Amino acid sequence: MEKNLDRDEMLELIGGSVRGEAFRRATFAGATRGAPCEWVRVVVRAIELRGERHFQFAYQGAKKAVTKNFLDDEVEAPLDELVGYGFAGVHITTGAEEIDIRTSRKGQVHVGRHKLKGATEAPEPESHNRVKDVPLPEGKADALLEIMGIATPDGRVRPTMRAKFNQINEFLKQLRHVLDDAKLNDLGRDVTILDCGCGSSYLTLAAHHYLNDVLKVPSRVVGVDVNEDVIRKSVERADRLGAGNLVFECRRIGTVDVAADIVFALHACDTATDDAIAQAVRSEARLLLSVPCCHHDLNKVIRADGPAEVLRPVLRHGILLQRTADLITDAFRALALRIMGYRTDVVEFVATEHTPRNLMIRAVRTREAASGVTDSAHVAEYIELKRFWRVTPYIEKVLGEPFQQLVKATAL
Ligand SMILES: C[S@@+](CC[C@H](N)C(=O)[O-])C[C@H]1O[C@@H](n2cnc3c(N)ncnc32)[C@H](O)[C@@H]1O
Repeated sequence: MEKNLDRDEMLELIGGSVRGEAFRRATFAGATRGAPCEWVRVVVRAIELRGERHFQFAYQGAKKAVTKNFLDDEVEAPLDELVGYGFAGVHITTGAEEIDIRTSRKGQVHVGRHKLKGATEAPEPESHNRVKDVPLPEGKADALLEIMGIATPDGRVRPTMRAKFNQINEFLKQLRHVLDDAKLNDLGRDVTILDCGCGSSYLTLAAHHYLNDVLKVPSRVVGVDVNEDVIRKSVERADRLGAGNLVFECRRIGTVDVAADIVFALHACDTATDDAIAQAVRSEARLLLSVPCCHHDLNKVIRADGPAEVLRPVLRHGILLQRTADLITDAFRALALRIMGYRTDVVEFVATEHTPRNLMIRAVRTREAASGVTDSAHVAEYIELKRFWRVTPYIEKVLGEPFQQLVKATAL
């Protein structure tokens, strides 16, 4: 597909593609027509370091070369700076398509998009002017969006933050969808929300605003992260917002003493998602919304042995092994939640992304796990799945004694 874009549409396309989950690599090269620039070419890659997605910026100049890595939460400023140089050529590769953007000397922007074989059609990005029925509409809650770095002072979503803006809105939509089921509207006290692996707290702050100011559900929000820098940044943002009932703690998930009614985990790395699920179950949270991130635990141990021998043609390919491990990990999580008394489903979270990380595990507590009773059919499925794969998933280890006892007692 070939077409011409205006400058804002171009910035939105670059920002949305680079920050999107399916992003692989972008090359910025050619003449620069923006801010003064010492680089001839800059290559941005999505890489994984210590189990977390990073963006690696490789700057190539006439006399020097520099490489810097940024976390998702940190990429906003360097990406803004990079697009500000105004390179004439930008080539982006995602899991779904190749995008080639050329800017002429007269400032005309031409874009060519070629879908990769096997990928489904990538939807057009939302126009930033369109008013939609979303929890955080553009042009409203300006102070919040501005302080989070998502919108400009005049209320327009920054092109490079469009993907984050959409992601938060989709998350809050899911929250709205199950909030009534969780019967949290008339507790007679503030609702407590725990955001596990909160990062720079985009979701934490947005949820605080959405519940307290929009839905008028008085809520206290606690953000937890192991990274001191993001916690410092989150505290600064909350202070600037002047929002009360917001707490941040630099701790590991699972070590926080909070009786949470709602637990969030948005892309908490690897087994941190399981730690968040266990925290929700332990505190008998009524609601859990978890979007898993990278999965490594089962990937290391599943084999085409025993009953799974028939899957040898699948598991011999690294990418298929990874995807199989992802699916099994999330199936174990959902099943464990059902066993512990949660009505659980797995839904597509960000429909507009081509990514294996767009699933949400949505769980509403319907029964006291402490009652010692659970559905024997779920337990039978769980045991059978373990037997088939010959594994003990991390979720079982972290749910510990109460879960293991329940499974054992029900299976007898
Ligand atoms: C990919 S970021 C997601 C941040 C945020 N939820 C978002 O989506 O914008 C994952 C965050 O989880 C944090 N994290 C990973 N493992 C953790 C653990 N065991 N306990 C607390 N935080 C953890 C990391 O420091 C990082 O900030």
